[in-house]
Amino acid sequence: MKIVGARYLVAAVISAFICVLLIGPTMAFADETIKLSEPKFKSGATILTALKNRKSDRSFDSARALTQQQLSELLWAAGGVNRPAVDGEKPGRTFPSGHNSQCIDIYAFMSDGIYRYEPEAHELKLIQKGDHRAATGVQNYVADAPLNLLYVAHMSQAPGSTEMDKRVNVSYDVGHMSQSVYLYCASSGLNVIVRSSIDQEALRKLLGLNNTYEPLLGQTIGFQSK
Ligand SMILES: Cc1cc2nc3c(=O)[nH]c(=O)nc-3n(C[C@H](O)[C@H](O)[C@H](O)COP(=O)(O)O)c2cc1C
Repeated sequence: MKIVGARYLVAAVISAFICVLLIGPTMAFADETIKLSEPKFKSGATILTALKNRKSDRSFDSARALTQQQLSELLWAAGGVNRPAVDGEKPGRTFPSGHNSQCIDIYAFMSDGIYRYEPEAHELKLIQKGDHRAATGVQNYVADAPLNLLYVAHMSQAPGSTEMDKRVNVSYDVGHMSQSVYLYCASSGLNVIVRSSIDQEALRKLLGLNNTYEPLLGQTIGFQSK
């Protein structure tokens, strides 16, 4: 009896070990995040030089990804936290926000997956694995440019008494955010284009969002193609 019991115990330990091996990676996948490094505040061009060089480009090197440092700085420029909360307000951001609603999410579409930027943690949270860059626009270059951002407004949190007011307010926020990305790109030698030609319904479906969320603008970023 004792030997049989010991066998059961060994079998149970081995089974538990196999379960950890099998389930472990799945759990890690569900929680997968990319922790972004601190921006280097002393790098890049001056603000006036960046404004002088700001422009839209529609040509991207599909073989050259942004560095992790560039990704971190670009997302921080787009919508990062730049000062702590005061008087019960939300922490301050790099863009001004109507009624300080801060109701815009930034999604980053890259070759390996779709991520959502989490400004307070300054990290990217995996939303969906796989290459979905082609879904971010109707232009050819979106499919293989290394990075496409998508700005999505949470309309139920948008300030304004009419639908029109709400739309205008979230559009102002996104205008500021996307201009910061333009300036970061101009200061870092990256090409960029902002795009309103997006398929909102298809993007909502892909991201699992209901119609209280409004995908507003896409923005494609990468190095100049050779
Ligand atoms: C709200 C907005 C939407 C835009 N949508 C598109 C677009 O869908 N496709 C595109 O090729 N360019 C788009 N652009 C880029 C403009 O065409 C571009 O900014 C304009 O031609 C001026 O060029 P510049 O940015 O180099 O100064 C958009 C720009 C803005 C501000």
